[in-house]
Amino acid sequence: MATRIPSSYVIRQLTPTDALIFRKFRLEALATSPNSFSSTVSREESFAMEIWEERTARTAFAFELVTPPSDQVDESTLHAHPVGMVGYYRVEQGETPLAHLVGLWVHPTHRGKGVGSALVEWAVEQVLPSGTDTANPRRRLQLEVGERNKQVTSMYERLGFRRLNADGLSMEYTSCPGTRDVVLSCDQGMATV
Ligand SMILES: CC(C)(COP(=O)(O)OP(=O)(O)OC[C@H]1O[C@@H](n2cnc3c(N)ncnc32)[C@H](O)[C@@H]1OP(=O)(O)O)[C@@H](O)C(=O)NCCC(=O)NCCS
Repeated sequence: MATRIPSSYVIRQLTPTDALIFRKFRLEALATSPNSFSSTVSREESFAMEIWEERTARTAFAFELVTPPSDQVDESTLHAHPVGMVGYYRVEQGETPLAHLVGLWVHPTHRGKGVGSALVEWAVEQVLPSGTDTANPRRRLQLEVGERNKQVTSMYERLGFRRLNADGLSMEYTSCPGTRDVVLSCDQGMATV
């Protein structure tokens, strides 16, 4: 799936040197959109720096190019102005490798421009790269989204995700007791349900 992103933005995977700015941006996301995540500021602000460094290998930021269009991306400018992020992590699950998409967030002033969709597509490309993988012909990228979050659910479905659970059955948000999640998956080598 080709990454679709407006020309004034760029997506880059983080490196361990981004750990501090990652921590700052993630805590801002948790504080700004507390009902969108299953974690909280109070839980994550005490995380050791090693955790943030380890997470950078599975996280990407979207940055706004200050003087678009340009192929010359100033790293210091990028570090200063992240506008969105997404991450994933892999879990063992029998013969079907499974990964979870987590932490999708776009700063409110940059929403509605395609940045969130492009970040989701970045995660799909990391977990379900195009081409044939004979070692792992079946792979799945899964996520959970609050059942009241219908606009976000529609976005994922437009990007190829399908509902795994017909009745919205899943874990409860710790930050939003009483709500449930819809489980969506994007599959490779499997018929979706
Ligand atoms: C969800 C989110 C990342 C979308 O980012 P974005 O950059 O606005 O996404 P896009 O510009 O690619 O738009 C995606 C589509 O979803 C719709 N959409 C998604 N979330 C929306 C929101 N909160 N408000 C309005 N529209 C929203 C857009 O209208 C758009 O639909 P369209 O393509 O048919 O016009 C962003 O709204 C956000 O950070 N929300 C809070 C955190 C959150 O809910 N994360 C997801 C947890 S599962």
